[in-house]
Amino acid sequence: MNTKELIATAKALVADNKGLLAMDESYPTCNKRFAKLGIPETAELRRDYREMIVTTVGLNESISGAILFDETVHQQLKDGSSFIKVLTDNRIIPGIKVDGGTIAMAGHPGEKMTEGLDNLRDRLTEYTRMGLRFAKWRAVITIGKGIPTQACIEANVHALARYAALCQEVGIVPIVEPEVLMDGDHTMERCFEVTEQVLHTVFNQLYTQGVILEGMILKPNMIVPGLACEKQESVDEVADATVKCLLRTVPAAVPGIAFLSGGQSSEQASARLNSMNVRVKNKLPWELSFSFGRALQEPALGIWNGKEKNVPEAQKALYHRAVCNRAARRGEYIDKMERI
Ligand code: 13P
Repeated sequence: MNTKELIATAKALVADNKGLLAMDESYPTCNKRFAKLGIPETAELRRDYREMIVTTVGLNESISGAILFDETVHQQLKDGSSFIKVLTDNRIIPGIKVDGGTIAMAGHPGEKMTEGLDNLRDRLTEYTRMGLRFAKWRAVITIGKGIPTQACIEANVHALARYAALCQEVGIVPIVEPEVLMDGDHTMERCFEVTEQVLHTVFNQLYTQGVILEGMILKPNMIVPGLACEKQESVDEVADATVKCLLRTVPAAVPGIAFLSGGQSSEQASARLNSMNVRVKNKLPWELSFSFGRALQEPALGIWNGKEKNVPEAQKALYHRAVCNRAARRGEYIDKMERI
């Protein structure tokens, strides 16, 4: 392992107020989003959609890295070039989702376990050869009556740390994503409590398994009330709770924290990230960044709608969200940006 290079890549992913674009939806997730808009669920349209994304001019002004799905790294753009090459040529670091999705956890109703450790070493070696420089693994923690259980947290976190160690072995920066879901009617306090417990367990396990903290990125949820909770806290309250939870749990050696959006609206995600950076940016040991999927893509996907003629407008919408989130990293995102 080249530790120096690993650390340099991790730093580059959160440098210059840029963030990550998650475009790594698995087949079922991508198909679900297409189906909702009546877009045919074909490999060709998935390719066309992702070609629209990576050919957006100026994306690299705000995006430092893009997370791809395995199908995409084996596809070509219409001109025959690979997605990895197009991103690299545009100075966007290419990464890859390597988990195999979630399955029901045995003996634990309502809880999930992420799969994908089998053959991971071989897959990572091949991905390195292809030019991919970072990876992502998502663990899912559900809040509900009597859950999450310690068993679910520990099993998922153990897998996350094993994945992270395997990535670093071949010089790939692991994005460690323990997502506490927003689904449900739980309060923001409950989200805080669960996230705090999960993150403590994550860093304990990363330490046990010898993961180099300087060579990884954490991708957590923000501390938010459940989507069906009656009480919805203000932007600043969410920002404060999130920072407080992270300060308690994330070691200063970690170069950056890149939030997932998790079902927040695009504007909400930008506003909350902005508020954190307005209030405490210079007092934090790590960069506070974004690794949004839906919050970057949703408007563009709706406009594109499977049609070639909509590509320029869709690219405009994607570019706009990327610019808004870079502004949020600087604490310079304002409402007015949404009305231009
Ligand atoms: P969302 O921002 O849509 O939650 O996606 C981020 C991601 O990569 C989930 O694994």
